[in-house]
Amino acid sequence: MAGEAASRGAGPGSPRRAAAHAPGRVNLIGEHTDYNLGLALPFAIAEGVVVRAEANDPRSESAQRIYAHARDLDELDEFELAEISPAEGWRAFVRGAAAELQRAGVPLVGARLEIGGDLERGAGLSSSAALEVALCLALSELASSASLDRIALARLCARVENDWVGAQTGMLDQLASLYGATDTAVCIDFRALEIEPVPLRLGGWRFVVVDSGERHANASSGYNERRAQCERACEQLGVDSLRDADAAGVAGLPQPLRARAEHVLGENERVGETVAALRAEDLPAVGALLDASHASLRDLYEVSTPTVERAVGRLREDGAAGARLMGGGFGGSVLGLFAPDVPVPPGAREVRPGPGAHLLVD
Ligand code: GLA
Repeated sequence: MAGEAASRGAGPGSPRRAAAHAPGRVNLIGEHTDYNLGLALPFAIAEGVVVRAEANDPRSESAQRIYAHARDLDELDEFELAEISPAEGWRAFVRGAAAELQRAGVPLVGARLEIGGDLERGAGLSSSAALEVALCLALSELASSASLDRIALARLCARVENDWVGAQTGMLDQLASLYGATDTAVCIDFRALEIEPVPLRLGGWRFVVVDSGERHANASSGYNERRAQCERACEQLGVDSLRDADAAGVAGLPQPLRARAEHVLGENERVGETVAALRAEDLPAVGALLDASHASLRDLYEVSTPTVERAVGRLREDGAAGARLMGGGFGGSVLGLFAPDVPVPPGAREVRPGPGAHLLVD
């Protein structure tokens, strides 16, 4: 843990400034599997959140004070590092990141934070995780702390989301932002916490996202309810997680627990099949797996909405080889896959796998 002296402001060798970029993510497949200790296959995208931090004068009254500015909203927050109270909206992320870093022994210093970047909030591209990750990287760099390893950082960011924001999300988004790499998806095994890079050799095929126009907030959606249903299914099956459940046991569950668990088991299998299809450069097979994932999310996990259905339907009418809702559901972005000879329809945006979270050098 941080000693008293270490928590008293930047030392002589500490940087005065630090900046970090953390990308959003597209989840290619593997939805609602992370908190069930299953498999998922996300990639980091080029767009992300940027946090620029400048240390306050260690001799000034603000030596232990954080000032934060959210550029897109033009809103401010400020608090003392020694007494961080909960807050709402984007402020919950800043306060939670500062509090959890200190709890992990990172000797934070007072600073001014500018939060910007080019990732839209609430559109299902994981702006929340990108914000947590960028905040943590910039703040710990300013503290000159031996950095936490990336798995520890992902866990810490998930605690921010769970305990400070109130969304019981898993670690999909944080791990995707931290471990993404250019032209690569990452196959995450949430039980072993192993991350396997899977090269995306798309040969002219493109992934696109379309904003369904329906805003979602994980905390207020049915997300927490779905998670609780999975926990109830585990209790009834006598297993620690749905990763340990088998089809025969699941078939005996009452509804809707049976349908929820069937989705999770099927989705884990589809992740494995998608990795195999990508390695074989069989993109039509990837498209069919996206469609199957969507059907399961709609019919078994019941996280689609009429607006999302329309967005997915339009992508298919426009010639997508596969399309599905992405992320927690109840709105946000939908994902489509297009063959090289099919034009990307208006309103759809191509997403390319970009680098994972990193410090920026001015
Ligand atoms: C949201 C959560 C993730 C994950 C997905 C569903 O994006 O933040 O942890 O559970 O939903 O796959």
